[in-house]
Amino acid sequence: MKILAIETSCDETAAAVVEDGTEVLASAVASSSNLHEKTGGIVPEIAARKQVEYIVPIIDEVLEKAGLTLEDVDKLAVTSGPGLIGSLVVGVSAAKTLSLVTDKPLIPVNHLVGHIYANWLVNADKINFPALALVVSGGHTDLVLVRGHGELEYLGGTVDDAAGEAFDKTARLLGIKKYLGGAELSKVAASCKENKMKGRLPRPKIKDEDFDFSFSGLKTAVKRIVENEEFELESLACEFENAVVDVLVEKTIRAAKEHNVKTILLGGGVSANNNLRNRISFEAEDLGVFISIPPIEFCTDSAVYIASAAYFNQNEKTLDDIKADPSLGIMDEA
Ligand code: KG4
Ligand code: ZN
Repeated sequence: MKILAIETSCDETAAAVVEDGTEVLASAVASSSNLHEKTGGIVPEIAARKQVEYIVPIIDEVLEKAGLTLEDVDKLAVTSGPGLIGSLVVGVSAAKTLSLVTDKPLIPVNHLVGHIYANWLVNADKINFPALALVVSGGHTDLVLVRGHGELEYLGGTVDDAAGEAFDKTARLLGIKKYLGGAELSKVAASCKENKMKGRLPRPKIKDEDFDFSFSGLKTAVKRIVENEEFELESLACEFENAVVDVLVEKTIRAAKEHNVKTILLGGGVSANNNLRNRISFEAEDLGVFISIPPIEFCTDSAVYIASAAYFNQNEKTLDDIKADPSLGIMDEA
């Protein structure tokens, strides 16, 4: 089954065609991130305007890359939330229009659940249930038990800033000017030869029995150091990254043990972080649990995993029932 998926939750305009939820036939992503560099943060209005401009060409592009026409596609899928309302509306309207004119069913997808499905594009035959998913993106940090397709159980999540948000805000505090500076901060951290700040930052909630996270205090602790001390940038970046990774890894591994899972699934933009990838792989292997980590291009936003999530959760809805919803949580129906 070929699914054509559309994703426009943030500043990307993305489309993809995926066969049977596992084989990417074509994918294309257009981004307006260069326009947000100047302001140091996303301007929703600009993102949405660019998406209006890119959406039709990007759909044409993936169909052409896949050597297909709309007629060859079996079903359509679209991200219905969470994300920026103006951006979501562009994708949802385009998908509904396609569904209407082609008479093909449309499957709405929760973007956060979508991130988990990036794993089926690379490890479909190695994933066994129950699995544990850590979704770490720009706006969300969630730990969920995946008992089967469509059978999610919420274990915990951030009570304040998401992991990616903490990376981005800290990057700004450290003078890293790039828009969404998380990846750049990580590069600076990787260049640190000796962490002279070791142990200076807290590991929030690391010993708490729950599976919740809190990252806003960490950012405040960095702010205090930046404002009051001479500091070495590489060391502070490294200490910050280690603090976030320590907490994410410790809680994920504890949840994996407690729930006796067969697989750990990583997803979301922050799973592109090398420190996190290495540490969680090491700990999962030590525990004897298969760890699935998508390649970097499937960690950041695109439409490939939206198509995969749609294949494995074919919750078709009538067009009237499909709505852009900026505030969907990971447990909410798309
Ligand atoms: O999933 P994503 O592409 O968009 C959302 O759905 O939010 O995640 C974007 C987030 C941003 O906060 C970005 O800074 C962060 O992922 N990110 C990273 C890295 N690459 C992307 N954070 C830490 N290290 C990285 N290498
Ligand atoms: Zn995302």
